[in-house]
Amino acid sequence: KTSLKGRSFLTLKDFTPEEIGYFLDLAAKLKADKKKGITGNSLKGKNIALLFEKPSTRTRCSFTIGCVDEGAHPEYLGKDDIQLGHKESVEDTARVLGRMFDGIEFRGFLHENVEKLAKYSGVPVWNGLTDDYHPTQILADFLTLREQFGEIKGLNFVFAGDGRNNMSNSLMIGCSKMGLNFTCLAPKSLWPKEELVKQCEEYAKESGAKIRFTEDVKEAVEGADCIYTDVWASMGEEDKAAERIALLRPYQVNKEMLEMTGKDSTIVMHCLPAVKGHEITEDVFEHFADVIFDEAENRMHTIKAVMVATLGEY
Ligand code: CP
Ligand code: NVA
Repeated sequence: KTSLKGRSFLTLKDFTPEEIGYFLDLAAKLKADKKKGITGNSLKGKNIALLFEKPSTRTRCSFTIGCVDEGAHPEYLGKDDIQLGHKESVEDTARVLGRMFDGIEFRGFLHENVEKLAKYSGVPVWNGLTDDYHPTQILADFLTLREQFGEIKGLNFVFAGDGRNNMSNSLMIGCSKMGLNFTCLAPKSLWPKEELVKQCEEYAKESGAKIRFTEDVKEAVEGADCIYTDVWASMGEEDKAAERIALLRPYQVNKEMLEMTGKDSTIVMHCLPAVKGHEITEDVFEHFADVIFDEAENRMHTIKAVMVATLGEY
């Protein structure tokens, strides 16, 4: 039996394909139980800190409900509530929280801060999104793909948009670990950083995934099983919005793009929140709304699985 007890969840780089599969299996089980009205008490008596420097709907609610469903107490700490990185170093805040809490979720700007929290708190720390990575989202995306396609290995997965953002980075890691063929469709200036690509190419060698980057829409989407998109300007990049709109317009997920896949079975996914009319058209979004909102719901089941696997008595 896989044991992930005591581990932090900072990026998918730290987990084997088997371990990622274990999170997905556990999430599917917790989801099926919840649909039957069964919740657990695997986190009974635990106190969980939820640190948010950036806003959130899905991630915050998923951690909160995941805690309550499994018997833990969640404590939300927003950016103006604590001293983190302003009046007090991240290291000191981590050491304090680690004395009081059993687990810590962090959503914020600098990825190094979530690493510091994990290093200095001594308790499991879960990355709820940083500028560079959004790993819990990938578990929800893969659970959704499993529900849609059964087997996810071998799927042709296309990410269209800002190829350097947290979603593109994390999807590339997840796909290369789990054997999905990953295409990044973006202008060259927004392709992922070379160092991360090299790491993912190593994972791909193991899994059999193919990774490619292109500016050509038709070449990217032909044969795609899933086209995925995300906002063009991420949280913290509001000043880049105009420049990104100009740069990314050709990569909007729309009807014309879908017609180029040559497949009727292609699905469209989005991590949300979406800016309709920018990265995705309203009609395409509505056509795939069932999948997109399953994906949003699956944040809850997968985040619960991450907490249960790393902290729970299960
Ligand atoms: N997808 C996602 O992380 O949504 P929130 O920003 O609402 O948490
Ligand atoms: N790239 C987006 C993802 C939101 C879930 C952002 O960081 O704002």
